[in-house]
Amino acid sequence: MSTDTTGTAARDEGPRPGDPADSPFVRACRRKPGPHTPVWFMRQAGRSLPEYRKIRANVAMLESCRRPELITEITLQPVRRHGVDAAILFSDIVVPVAAAGVALDIVPGTGPVVTDPVTTAADVERIRPITRDDVHYVDEAVRMLVGELGATPLIGFAGAPFTLASYLVEGGPSRNHTKTKALMYSDPDLWHALAGRLAEVALAFLKVQIDAGASAVQLFDSWAGALSEADYRRYVLPHSQAVLAGLADAGVPRIHFGVGTGELLTAMGEAGADVVGVDWRTPLDIATRRVGPQRAVQGNLDPCLLFAPWPVLEAEVRRVLAQGRAAPGHIFNLGHGVLPETDPDVLTRLVALVHELTARGNGRS
Ligand code: CP3
Repeated sequence: MSTDTTGTAARDEGPRPGDPADSPFVRACRRKPGPHTPVWFMRQAGRSLPEYRKIRANVAMLESCRRPELITEITLQPVRRHGVDAAILFSDIVVPVAAAGVALDIVPGTGPVVTDPVTTAADVERIRPITRDDVHYVDEAVRMLVGELGATPLIGFAGAPFTLASYLVEGGPSRNHTKTKALMYSDPDLWHALAGRLAEVALAFLKVQIDAGASAVQLFDSWAGALSEADYRRYVLPHSQAVLAGLADAGVPRIHFGVGTGELLTAMGEAGADVVGVDWRTPLDIATRRVGPQRAVQGNLDPCLLFAPWPVLEAEVRRVLAQGRAAPGHIFNLGHGVLPETDPDVLTRLVALVHELTARGNGRS
């Protein structure tokens, strides 16, 4: 312990109680024991909540992502309702891309739609680097949220280069990512220029959120599971690595997540995150063997299980927790986002169940 009286002693001793950096969520990300297994849900803010549907009734999605008060309120809604261990910023992966000058919209029921899909080097050049001023509404919202949330950590996020590139090259959501892969295979230089530019945008967006006080970040590579491991390593890994390495000294845990990535988990671990998110297809004990003992895991209940009878759901929660005990740190989550039709009361009950089953002295400590 330091005897320094200049004020550095508190820093040397790490976070104090009541500091989000000492929350169960951040502790689990850092593979430290905590009072219970933390739980939050991807897409916890959104269409499963009547209060969200009400507040969004007359505001377009992208517009709502540019109003700090609205971002703050929507981010807080699931925290108030469910008692989750972390908030996730209400935004979208395409918000920084729009701020970088790409004309796009988020169409209800469809997702992001890009007006002029990327096909040439000139299109890539038009994606400008972003500064805090370009996303000042996110900076303001994060600052407000950190004040409101107190000890509850706020997770910032960004889309990873492959997932962002897929929207930009396809022009919208895609099943097979055909044009994206065709670009990779036919013009690797253009692909790497595009992915490199998107890595810069994602890194800048995450830094804005961390500078404003976010306690952790998640890099979503939702569609990376469409790639073979060899292609992932060749075309995607260096770019995701650049984003995560750029945050190595930022002092907050980094989570990296994708869907259908069972075969990619080892490589995704090498991207450099502290926590690897796992979908429902790969049991967490197997996922832990793949990502290695130096990383925590996050996941991985099938979102469809929220529609199952309670005893079935409870048995599956117990299984996920048991398999998660193989990991050096486990953050309970779904294997992908909350589906819009989900009964929010089931989510609230699920948070209570995870807390109850994992309370210190009642299993894991
Ligand atoms: O609660 C949270 O998790 C925070 C908010 C959040 C949104 N998008 C809000 C949103 C987060 C983390 C995202 C990330 C995001 N956006 C991802 C990665 C996560 C994932 O699910 O894999 C992706 C791939 C996108 C792109 C995107 N934006 C999709 C696929 C959609 C859904 C399309 C639809 O309507 O079915 C969107 C729109 C979107 N983003 C909505 C919300 C709440 C729905 C818009 C609405 O409510 O009208």
